[in-house]
Amino acid sequence: MSVNLLLHSPQYRPNLSSMIRSAEFYGLTKVYIIDANNLLRPPSESKKARAEMEKMARVWTAGAIEFVEIIKIEDLKLFLAEYEGRKIATLVDESARNLNEFQFQEGDLLIMGSEKEGLPEEVLPLLDQAVYIPALGHTPCLNVAVTCGIVLHQALKSIAEK
Ligand SMILES: C[S@@+](CC[C@H](N)C(=O)[O-])C[C@H]1O[C@@H](n2cnc3c(N)ncnc32)[C@H](O)[C@@H]1O
Repeated sequence: MSVNLLLHSPQYRPNLSSMIRSAEFYGLTKVYIIDANNLLRPPSESKKARAEMEKMARVWTAGAIEFVEIIKIEDLKLFLAEYEGRKIATLVDESARNLNEFQFQEGDLLIMGSEKEGLPEEVLPLLDQAVYIPALGHTPCLNVAVTCGIVLHQALKSIAEK
């Protein structure tokens, strides 16, 4: 068992691909997604469009897509209510828990927000914890796919060292 990943409404395919790639690299076999921006849907329903989309997905994820099941979540509230592990938000919020000091557990669900909006306010009360990667410089936040790689790495390290 490992951790799980939920991508909340990613807006750009390169970021989505990069997160799928990182998830697979760290051994996750499934990724949950709220696909509010229809990134998983080809531009048209034609066979050619679907084939191109599949090819692009393989290229952009460096082949990781072959090994990861992408599970679309339609009802987030229900999904979170039924999820058995802890639900951990990643937030651009200095009052959230410092990622480096946070003890992760097997089965934790790591949740990434969207590029522009982050996680919607109404979702936060449904979650158990929130973690923040402290900035050392002046840039206000990280790219979501970069965050995803860092959080996955730290989560698995923290579980392994427990
Ligand atoms: C570009 S940020 C969102 C910016 C948005 N304006 C906000 O304040 O939430 C996109 C996502 O990356 C993650 N993220 C970026 N920087 C982070 C940080 N320093 N700590 C934790 N998560 C971060 C979060 O999941 C966030 O929802």
